[in-house]
Amino acid sequence: MSAPEDVLVAPAAPVAPAVPVEQQHQPAQPVQSAAEVQPEPAPQAVPAETVVPEPVAVAMAPAGPVLVPEPEAAQPEAPAEPAEAPVQAPADEATAQELPEPVEAQQVVVVTPEPEAQAAPVEAAPEHRAPVQASPVVEPVAQPEPVVQPEQVAQPEQEQPVEPAQAVAVAEGQEAVVAREPAVAQPEQVAAELTPEPVQPEPVAEEPVEPAEPVAEETAGEAAPEQEPAPTPEPAVAETEPEAAPAIAPDAEDGTGPEVIETPELLPEPQAQAPAGEAPAEAAQQFEETPQRVEAEQQPVTAAQPEESAEPLEAAELAEQPAATPPAPGYDDAEREAVLRVMRERRDIRNGFRSDPIPHEVLLRVLEAAHTAPSVGHSQPWDFVVIRSAETRRSMHELAQSQRDAYAKSLPKGRAKQFKELKIEAILDTPVNIVVTADPTRGGRHTLGRHTQPQMAPYSSALAVENLWLAARAEGLGVGWVSFFDEREMVRALGLPEHLEVVAYLCVGYVDEFPEEPELMQAGWSKRRPLSWVVHEETYGRRALPGAEPHDLLQETISAIRPLDAKALGEAWERQKRMTKPAGALGMLEIISAQLSGLSRMCPPPIPEPAAVAIFAGDHGVHAQGVTAWPQEVTAQMVANFLGGGAVCNAFAAQVGAEVCVVDVGVATDLPATPGLLPRKVRPGTADFTTGPALTREEVLAAIEVGIETARDLVAAGNKALLTGEMGIANTTASAALICVYTGIDAAEVTGRGTGINDEMHARKVDVVRRALDLHQPDPADPIGVLAAVGGLEHAAMAGFLLGGASLRTPVILDGVSAGAAALVARAIAPEALAACIAGHRSAEPGHVAALNKLGLRPLVDLDLRLGEGTGALLALLIVQSAARAMHEVATFDSAGVTEK
Ligand SMILES: Cc1cc2nc3c(=O)[nH]c(=O)nc-3n(C[C@H](O)[C@H](O)[C@H](O)COP(=O)(O)O)c2cc1C
Repeated sequence: MSAPEDVLVAPAAPVAPAVPVEQQHQPAQPVQSAAEVQPEPAPQAVPAETVVPEPVAVAMAPAGPVLVPEPEAAQPEAPAEPAEAPVQAPADEATAQELPEPVEAQQVVVVTPEPEAQAAPVEAAPEHRAPVQASPVVEPVAQPEPVVQPEQVAQPEQEQPVEPAQAVAVAEGQEAVVAREPAVAQPEQVAAELTPEPVQPEPVAEEPVEPAEPVAEETAGEAAPEQEPAPTPEPAVAETEPEAAPAIAPDAEDGTGPEVIETPELLPEPQAQAPAGEAPAEAAQQFEETPQRVEAEQQPVTAAQPEESAEPLEAAELAEQPAATPPAPGYDDAEREAVLRVMRERRDIRNGFRSDPIPHEVLLRVLEAAHTAPSVGHSQPWDFVVIRSAETRRSMHELAQSQRDAYAKSLPKGRAKQFKELKIEAILDTPVNIVVTADPTRGGRHTLGRHTQPQMAPYSSALAVENLWLAARAEGLGVGWVSFFDEREMVRALGLPEHLEVVAYLCVGYVDEFPEEPELMQAGWSKRRPLSWVVHEETYGRRALPGAEPHDLLQETISAIRPLDAKALGEAWERQKRMTKPAGALGMLEIISAQLSGLSRMCPPPIPEPAAVAIFAGDHGVHAQGVTAWPQEVTAQMVANFLGGGAVCNAFAAQVGAEVCVVDVGVATDLPATPGLLPRKVRPGTADFTTGPALTREEVLAAIEVGIETARDLVAAGNKALLTGEMGIANTTASAALICVYTGIDAAEVTGRGTGINDEMHARKVDVVRRALDLHQPDPADPIGVLAAVGGLEHAAMAGFLLGGASLRTPVILDGVSAGAAALVARAIAPEALAACIAGHRSAEPGHVAALNKLGLRPLVDLDLRLGEGTGALLALLIVQSAARAMHEVATFDSAGVTEK
């Protein structure tokens, strides 16, 4: 079987092979398959067993795969013609900041092909293959089976499970590219695991569309709010002193009516409010009416009906009940559209404010809207302090400025650079600032609904802010929320009563225009999360938009993974040919930048900055077998060290400006809540896999989801590169076992010394791996089962992280041996995920070499590191960023007027 639209990338290095400092012999699996299909030298195999060399010797040996290229060998043959028609439409650049709306969970059969050599798949039409072939990266190494085989799911029984002969062939070093042929081993088994819900046959196009976005597109043109002239201020009105007006007619003479506070509303003269002066009048009207009485009068007679049923009706039964009366009407289409439009077009504004004054009646309408917000126990805990004085605004500006500086100092360099360009307040640029407070005592001691949740008071005030914000938008007023304040400092500076909380500081004024997208999105600071990520049906995790079948996070993720885009790849090769340097002179960097282009579907590709390393931490039951010299509690202690900033990964992350985030996916002990720690414990450590499975399949899936969600969060937060890291005492034992399963290499060859163990302990470790494999006989075609048998929680999470990154077309820089093991599992789940992977470094652990060979990934850094924590990936980040930056900044022969060869 073949999938003609898919082409594999073999990022076979055209550069000189790595020259390891010390090596013993070649691994069982040289990446020879690429040689079958490409004229360029295949990536040089690295030794399977590498004796941990003396660090000093390493430091003295400058040879490295990337740093010492041989340009002659590296002339990338760019395609004769750039690819013209990508199979997959490039992402709409205008909406590039939006995360892709995931496709409906499809019938994904997790296949376990045997992709050989480098397998960064390329999405390409058949006609593109020729140019793609000509490049050193894009090698049409056979046609991989598509990951999604709907018919396989529809008729799993018709699938002919492939004999594991291929795995044997692999183990024997007979890898052939065609081994990717239908290695659809036991699809039904994996599908059953991964597709708990009935599969959804609808094509992607039929997925319910998130309503807000399409509507925004449709109406963007007609709305054109920015073209509306700013309302002409009415100075006469603005200067009119509002007169006291008894707006509220006393009511409830019998004492049973609505309790209206009989304070005369200080409303402006009605005539001063035209044309929209009805709003205050309406508000007054509301006070005059007695909502309870009106309700009572209009009470439908059928209200008693449900009481007849002794048992509460189930939702489905309720739905079947014939409605006695029609429900209260909603708004008509135009009115509804106006409501939705104001929500869609509300923006937080910091730029482009005008100095036009805001007429009193306009501000009054806005404040009235705020004042109609819902509140806990109807406590209405807000106050609005309207500030116009330049002096007060200046002092507020100073306070905000000092908080801005403090925040900037706390940021990783990659983020700080971005932040420097951002405007985060417009205190001095706006004629009106409004402080919105919450009084946590308002409503008295027994405020309904606040009994156990004191935070409901500030929440209520936040709702008032939203009302204000929307009403302001409808008036053509921009609002910018500033939270760069020390609240207590502000309370003092403004002379507010000490018992008040400050909920919001708002800058309000007329603006030149309302941007269509959040300013932070436009600046690349963040991306919009799709609605489908956040809507769950019945239970958390059963994600489904109304009317759609619940989908499984892993299925959804796999469905979104695509090969590299051939058009962008072609453009990258073309550009590299025209850059002012000899063709191929950037060696492996050219391959990386082409991969980044194909991944992002953009040429030049986005510079992968900011970046974040996610350190997945977990413990291992196999620790009990004496496979490491370190006590298990060191995992938790090192997590504390990462969070305290004292580990090697922190130093390296600081050097390259990356964020460090630590994910507790399975540390044995409870960890205190700390900034930077994501508490996502699936279970406190795995079970000892020498006596039983390490994990249940459900736990594996939960840990994979942790990884996917971590990738989603980091990408939505604006990160453009993800780095894997891990911490788990004894996890090299699990890594070795996983690598054995996926390479077929003997445990003695892939089991390393981890954190440093003596011969006796090493022999025991090898024996432990062997025994576990004998006990479980893990089937490589069942990646979930493999992880359940001998994996670790951090391996599963890293596999998910990698799949998540790939599904979001974001590069994932892999760290050491555990990341390599996780990548093997991820590849077994979705082979095309490798398109997003970059091997950061080559660890001194022999298993890592075997894993990289199997993955066909060439490491960028080769310094005999064996630490984990993401350290090798962090070192490689700069190389990856340099590769992308060169594509942006290096002049072309034509632009620089340099004569070509
Ligand atoms: C509670 C809250 C605090 C905010 N604080 C700030 C702030 O201090 N500075 C800033 O520039 N934007 C601030 N914002 C605005 C957000 O950045 C903005 O709402 C977000 O980027 C989405 O953009 P949009 O409001 O235009 O949709 C705040 C928003 C909220 C809801």
